[in-house]
Amino acid sequence: MKVLLTGAAGQLGQALQALVPSGVEVVATSRAQLDLADADACRAAVQHHRPDWVLNAGAYTAVDKAESEPQLAWAVNAGAPQAFAEALALAGGRLLQLSTDFVFNGRQGHPYAPDQDRDPLGVYGSTKAQGEAAALQLDGAKVLRTSWVYGPVGRNFCRTMLRLHASKAAAGEPLKVVADQVGCPTSTLTLAAACWRAIGCGVSADGPALLHWSDAGAASWYDFAVAIGEQAVAQGLLSRAAQVLPITTAEYPTAATRPSYSLLECSASRQALNLQPSHWRAALADVLAQAQ
Ligand SMILES: NC(=O)c1ccc[n+]([C@@H]2O[C@H](COP(=O)([O-])OP(=O)(O)OC[C@H]3O[C@@H](n4cnc5c(N)ncnc54)[C@H](OP(=O)(O)O)[C@@H]3O)[C@@H](O)[C@H]2O)c1
Repeated sequence: MKVLLTGAAGQLGQALQALVPSGVEVVATSRAQLDLADADACRAAVQHHRPDWVLNAGAYTAVDKAESEPQLAWAVNAGAPQAFAEALALAGGRLLQLSTDFVFNGRQGHPYAPDQDRDPLGVYGSTKAQGEAAALQLDGAKVLRTSWVYGPVGRNFCRTMLRLHASKAAAGEPLKVVADQVGCPTSTLTLAAACWRAIGCGVSADGPALLHWSDAGAASWYDFAVAIGEQAVAQGLLSRAAQVLPITTAEYPTAATRPSYSLLECSASRQALNLQPSHWRAALADVLAQAQ
């Protein structure tokens, strides 16, 4: 099976390449090889490589910056999946589009099922929602939504917190983290395994077109920051953790409005993928072990 991977230099892209199943040939592209903002280039890549699947892990992921760059965010997050879907319809081949809990408004107070209506709050979520719709125009396409992604490499909350725990603890200052947004942290290591399953490695690829995958449990950003500090000390990554203080979203204003409760209901997808989740704390321990 031949897979055209985008976003190869991103945190998920790197985890996917580290876990390639046997029998899969990956054509890995990052920004230098394929600019996702260039729809013609996306179509040409499909025509040239003729993949069985496009695994579209590349995205414009700067949630706040997207508010001031909506056209670029749209081109990457919606234009590229649209171009892939169009080209794959002609060339043959399928599309796995990665997406996000930020396609939901977070107001319902219980986990979102895959078939619920999208209602994003900001530009990033809106462009990802449009990317989902464009991808699903292709017969056999799949959308896999996930949440709060972090891993041992790349730009993510966990690595930022490791740096801040060290600097705040050294300065004797508290680390203030938002406690009124709830979701589920998801490790790139478990997410990559779910992506390979979604395209038929180890399980049939005939299954639901809309999939939800996150690690198990729930957390606020505050809970996640506390756990990162505790586990990093336990694993010897930090000599001590900073004191973490809970704050409200109102006390930490950002350009983009984020959903306050965006847990994804994953049980049907876990069954379809035949994959049991790890609790997010166990997944965090595995990520920190690789960060050493
Ligand atoms: N991160 C999260 O918390 C989160 C949560 C839910 C869903 N997701 C989704 O999960 C998927 C993987 O995200 P991630 O966490 O791995 O993000 P990431 O680490 O930011 O990786 C995204 C990659 O896309 C690349 N990219 C951006 N614009 C591009 C362009 N014009 N042409 C080519 N490549 C471009 C980036 O390249 P550069 O490094 O050169 O910028 C980066 O390597 C995305 O679909 C994202 O929307 C992420």
